[in-house]
Amino acid sequence: MILEGAHTRSICRTEAGIRILDQRQLPWEVRWVELRSAEEAATAIREMWTRGAPMIGATAAYGLAMALAEDASDAGMDGAYRLLIETRPTAINLRWALDTVRNAVAELPASERAATAFVRADAICDEDAALCCAIGEHGLALLRDLHAQHPDRPLNILTHCNAGWLATVDYGTATAPIYLAHDAGLPVHVWVDETRPRNQGALLTAFELRNHGVPHTVIADNAGGLLMMQGKVDAVIVGTDRVTANGDVCNKIGTYLKALAAADNGVPFYVALPYTTFDPSTATGADVPIEERSADELTQLRGPSESGFATVRVTNSPAANPAFDVTPARLVTGYITERGVLDRV
Ligand code: MRU
Repeated sequence: MILEGAHTRSICRTEAGIRILDQRQLPWEVRWVELRSAEEAATAIREMWTRGAPMIGATAAYGLAMALAEDASDAGMDGAYRLLIETRPTAINLRWALDTVRNAVAELPASERAATAFVRADAICDEDAALCCAIGEHGLALLRDLHAQHPDRPLNILTHCNAGWLATVDYGTATAPIYLAHDAGLPVHVWVDETRPRNQGALLTAFELRNHGVPHTVIADNAGGLLMMQGKVDAVIVGTDRVTANGDVCNKIGTYLKALAAADNGVPFYVALPYTTFDPSTATGADVPIEERSADELTQLRGPSESGFATVRVTNSPAANPAFDVTPARLVTGYITERGVLDRV
């Protein structure tokens, strides 16, 4: 990832714990924060200082390692596992990462658990970067084919939410093909859904693309359908929090509506994911727990003003805030994975 002109990763080890970007401050301020305990990791995930399926998993993996450094008993490990897994319900990477670390240390003597857990968490991060890079390479081949259909103009990709390097260790999932295409000289332009209510598109994806120098335009969530109808979208690429055994895609609320519009307009709809986001133990999207978040995220907006940061209300009526939806597998053109582009199940 490129942040303020330098290559870096969105999570790394420090002497006392781990360092992450506080995504609540972006794009207004680049603020790194240090997490030094499982409790701090849990707070950071629950309150969305950090977010995005693979990144939640990586943070939780280190959270479990930090807990084991404090108390490596079975009871200590079980307590930290429960604390961390209850932070957010939808992204399956959280469970995958916690199980991976727990399984790696379960049979070890207590004295060896913490060190092994940290090594395993490091490996999860290295693997995530490699998986996303591979997703990018397969996606790049796809984008080259799409561009060849209209070589005289830039390729227009629409994306929803933030499935970029802020949501992973590096590259992102949906954004990896875009970054690789841009770096390879393919002219690519991104329509960035603002992604109400938390605006991960307008705040985070646009920030990433700007840092990487990728041409992009932020659009209201409701604009995508018209742009597709006008032939201004060549493909939709989104990330996902969980793909179930039948290929249903759970992702940020609003993804389903983009998939419907794409199907109606003959626009290919791709889902980018590493194997860590595939959940073969859950049959269909209807079985995935959908996170309900605070109505405040919908009824209030926060941003910079002339006198510092300000929060304004946008309605004084009751509000509901389901955070994810399910796109049925039948609406997915293909899954861009580290192994290649897979057709719909
Ligand atoms: O609630 P969030 O911001 O954690 O939701 C994130 C998304 O929906 C992302 O698109 C998804 O996790 C894929 S991240 C590579």
